[in-house]
Amino acid sequence: MHAATFDSSLSKSETYAEIHSQLRGVFTNEPSGLANTANMAALLFQALPDLNWAGFYFLQDGELVLGPFQGKVACVRITLGSGVCGTAAQRRQTLVVKDVHAFAGHIACDAASQSEIVVPLVKDGRLLGVLDLDSPTLARFDDEDRRGLETAAQLLLQASDLSRLSYP
Ligand code: SME
Repeated sequence: MHAATFDSSLSKSETYAEIHSQLRGVFTNEPSGLANTANMAALLFQALPDLNWAGFYFLQDGELVLGPFQGKVACVRITLGSGVCGTAAQRRQTLVVKDVHAFAGHIACDAASQSEIVVPLVKDGRLLGVLDLDSPTLARFDDEDRRGLETAAQLLLQASDLSRLSYP
């Protein structure tokens, strides 16, 4: 395994192409959902500028429970339908929130967070959890981030067995 290195002069589309390529490498011959989500949180946190949190929540017994992440200690349990994570999970739709303070019900884990993107993890019609990224900058995430992170989530879902981490 080589260490991930990222050139800060890359454009956003080049950065996501590099992230996808490195994720493919990291996931090769490795089905462990725990290992793959831990490595993916580290890779995203290292590769994407201007983040203060990157990680996963898994659906367990009807609520979202904290999984591997990089950043400050975070809230452990989130009810479906609550906060940005619970809303994206319930709608099974990526949410790009330009200003978390304008999002009714936003759960503030780290006071530094200003904007957020949450990508639901859905495989074979089943909601398994969410990928959550926070930024200390307003409107940090755009449609290119949405597409790049949705592709990254698909690579994770195709490669990994998340059945031990997620149970409805
Ligand atoms: N802000 C999220 C909670 C998770 S933390 O940001 C890590 C939310 O509103 O769902």
